Amino acid sequence: MSDALLIKFLALMGFVVVVNVILFWRQNVDMSESKADLEATIQMLERKKTNLLMKNTDLERQAHRMALKMEHLEIEVRDYSQARHDRKNLPMVFFVTPTKRRPEQKADLTRLGQTLAHIPNLFWILVEDAEGPSDMIRDLLDRLKMTQTSAHLAVSTPEKMRMNASDPNWKLPRGVEQRNAALEYLRTNHASWHRGAVYFGDDDNTYDWRLFDEIRKINRVGVWPVGIVGGLIVEAPIVASNGTVTGFTAKWKPERPFPIDMAAFAVNLSLIVENRDAGFSFDVPRGYQESHFLTSLKLSRNDLEPRADFCSKVYVWHTRTEKAQLSKKDLQRTLDPAQLSEPERNAIA
Ligand SMILES: *[C@@H]1O[C@H](CO)[C@@H](O)[C@H](O)[C@H]1NC(C)=O
Ligand SMILES: *[C@@H]1O[C@H](CO)[C@@H](O)[C@H](O)[C@H]1NC(C)=O
Ligand SMILES: *[C@@H]1O[C@H](CO)[C@@H](O)[C@H](O)[C@H]1NC(C)=O
Repeated sequence: MSDALLIKFLALMGFVVVVNVILFWRQNVDMSESKADLEATIQMLERKKTNLLMKNTDLERQAHRMALKMEHLEIEVRDYSQARHDRKNLPMVFFVTPTKRRPEQKADLTRLGQTLAHIPNLFWILVEDAEGPSDMIRDLLDRLKMTQTSAHLAVSTPEKMRMNASDPNWKLPRGVEQRNAALEYLRTNHASWHRGAVYFGDDDNTYDWRLFDEIRKINRVGVWPVGIVGGLIVEAPIVASNGTVTGFTAKWKPERPFPIDMAAFAVNLSLIVENRDAGFSFDVPRGYQESHFLTSLKLSRNDLEPRADFCSKVYVWHTRTEKAQLSKKDLQRTLDPAQLSEPERNAIA
């Protein structure tokens, strides 16, 4: 081999080696690059897996919470229908309200109606001292959604009784004719009602919801204290430790057979149906309406069932609405709606 050839050969070999080294190096770089890529992908996938696992745990927790909520709702629904069922089976309360037209009447009846509209199984008997039922009360019952659970009656107090009402020495017993009309209405329309209690609730008293639970509990005649009445903080039956009523705290005419307020008692509907002549009267001394009525139901003091935690709780107050201080002219205008402005009419009619 000539030198020149040998040199060429060596140069070629050298070139091959260099190319191989370069190729090998390149391959190595490629491999480490793809290895790094793979590792990054694995890391990313692992992060994703962790995330998904966390999400899964979260969803499982949520599912558990939802299941608990469902269970809760099911119990609530069951309780609700039970409560509805219980409410439907409550004894009926017949709430009798005699009422008379006066500037404060709409305000008083709105307040009372908004109390009564919340009471289950209550039937409101409104009896106006008027020739006919007023639009004002009809609209009120409509607004309260109580047209189906009320009776709206009207009966005038006889003229001769009105006449001695103007005599300053004569106090006209209020609501005699109207309460009697309510009793007659009950005998005619609700005689077959099996469980019901009748209560006389004036339009200006204040009633606690708990009173209605007490009214429903009576067997024949229930009694309870009345707040701020008869010049006292409370007028209450006195209850002996054996649970019988042995007296009354009344200061005004304590000699009455039943020295209690109209708001202090409720009677079983069946007593009213059985005693067809029982009622109120113009012919009894002032303050004797309650005694007259209870006696006409053939009840005596021994029959009184003390309610409201043995007469230790007050659920009704004999509040009174202050008479509006109106001028003679304004008072006259209240009698004729045509003379009233729109808001004036809305205030009272
Ligand atoms: C009220 O008027 C009626 C009818 O005129 C009469 O019978 C009654 O005795 C009068 N009462 C009083 C207390 O004046
Ligand atoms: C009223 O009397 C009847 C029996 O006449 C009774 O079934 C009922 O429980 C009593 N009480 C009420 C609130 O109806
Ligand atoms: C209850 O107690 C009163 C007063 O102590 C008593 O007069 C009455 O006879 C008692 N009634 C009963 C049913 O025990």
